[in-house]
Amino acid sequence: MFAKSRIECPELRKKIMSAEEAVSFIHDKQTVGMSGFTGAGYPKSIPAALVEKAKKLRVSNQPFRINLWTGASTAPELDGVLAAIDGINMRLPYQSDPVCRQQINDGLMDYVDIHLSEVSQNAWSGFLGKLDIAVIEVAAIHADGRIIPSSSVGNNKTWVEQADMVILEVNDQQSVKLEGMHDIYYGTALPPNRKPILLTSPSDRIGEKYLSIPIEKIVAVVETSAPDRNSAFNPPDDVSNQIADHILDFFTHEIKKGRLPKGLLPIQSGVGNIPNAVLSGLENGGYKNLTAYTEVIQDGMLGMLKSGSLSVVSATAFSLSPQALDEFNENIDFYRDKIILRQQDISNHPEIARRLGIIAMNGLIEADIYGNVNSTHIMGSRIMNGIGGSGDFARNGYLSIFMTPSICKNGSISAIVPMVSHVDHTEHDVKVIVTEQGLADLRGLSPRQRAKVVIEKCAHPLFKDRLYDYFDRACASKRGMHTPHILNEALSWHHNFETNGQM
Ligand code: COA
Repeated sequence: MFAKSRIECPELRKKIMSAEEAVSFIHDKQTVGMSGFTGAGYPKSIPAALVEKAKKLRVSNQPFRINLWTGASTAPELDGVLAAIDGINMRLPYQSDPVCRQQINDGLMDYVDIHLSEVSQNAWSGFLGKLDIAVIEVAAIHADGRIIPSSSVGNNKTWVEQADMVILEVNDQQSVKLEGMHDIYYGTALPPNRKPILLTSPSDRIGEKYLSIPIEKIVAVVETSAPDRNSAFNPPDDVSNQIADHILDFFTHEIKKGRLPKGLLPIQSGVGNIPNAVLSGLENGGYKNLTAYTEVIQDGMLGMLKSGSLSVVSATAFSLSPQALDEFNENIDFYRDKIILRQQDISNHPEIARRLGIIAMNGLIEADIYGNVNSTHIMGSRIMNGIGGSGDFARNGYLSIFMTPSICKNGSISAIVPMVSHVDHTEHDVKVIVTEQGLADLRGLSPRQRAKVVIEKCAHPLFKDRLYDYFDRACASKRGMHTPHILNEALSWHHNFETNGQM
């Protein structure tokens, strides 16, 4: 029953096999491109079968480790299980799995953290080496071989084009009614053959509804039945709500000044509690017919589509809580023409981000008084997650807003520091920094002007005086008045934390 309804193509039905049989195509040291983006659309049974294969091989002292490429973060059933058996040699691009993170920070796994829009270009250009095999989750296969992608698109198009072989997982827990939501663009090329991408509004469809894969490349089709990771969101706390309020006030101010239209510009929002609080603020703030050109469709966006505060969302993946997923599946016909899922080199494309004038809203780990932002590293050396798409949108959007609580770990760490211990977004790309304390608008300001605004508006009272003191003494030292620093003190706050547990 199941197989008939989901895999209708006779040629591919002949290739149906178990995950255990399918992993015979994957060998030690190979590079595997898997589907998956922010816990959506990743293969559910091949990773577990790979773990079993590795364990068996290791009994007879045969090694088994792969290089793993995905769209972005996946789930414990993929990143987590493979990392736990030390089965990943090299991982790219974004990940957020605790076991993976530990392996990377222990020096046991190489991690290549690339802007998400750029992964496919790097693969096509050959910078990343050869891709041996692609493992892609899909929702269904039509009789004529047309493939309905699942809940994320990510790098799937690139993986199936680049890999020698493809394994498909057909997951019956993905709604077949996703059909028609995808927009796979086949017009990309490498320089000097690139043409403009003719997408001028988030609602534009410029590609195909189906993922094309040469049938002879598909070596195995595996049937699965498992849900996406679908983590629940916590309700926004006071700090998230305060940050959201500052951003909403800022939008009102910008509209009054005529620097933003009444319907704003397409929004991009990272996932998490603070972005969700901003989304509910926009919904409650009376906005109508907003648009989103973003990476991930999260709970708040479904509510906004329902209420009409949002008219369309373009993204590359879903990231929904279990309740939101149920609601989505029940009302999928309502959502179909309001949601477009694109490959990540288009959902995050710099040309499109610049043309649409995106309002980019992302989290940060720490920012310095001059406006440099660290989104990826704890105390300069340990990776948290990765840059994700934040650089794609922040560098190329119209407004780049970075947000964080002003302190963490019970006040032992300040998010505002004299100098960041790692830089992902430079002072040139960061337009606005927001904490629960306030919002610093850095546009048009010199470094010294920025420092005063960042300290005054964003620093927690616990650290404000010390930041002013650092800045004043740096200025008084007259070493260089453009971006004043005291070099042997600039990273002393991090050193203090590592030695005394308190910045
Ligand atoms: N120093 C040390 N630890 C810090 C810290 C700092 N300055 N700031 C935060 N942390 C810790 C927190 O205490 C927390 O630790 P815990 O898990 O032990 O409690 C952890 O880092 C995460 O912090 P949290 O405040 O919960 O952050 P978040 O979930 O909002 O994520 C980022 C913040 C920056 C990690 C996240 O937004 C991210 O990965 N960004 C990069 C990618 C991105 O922007 N993606 C969206 C683009 S489309």
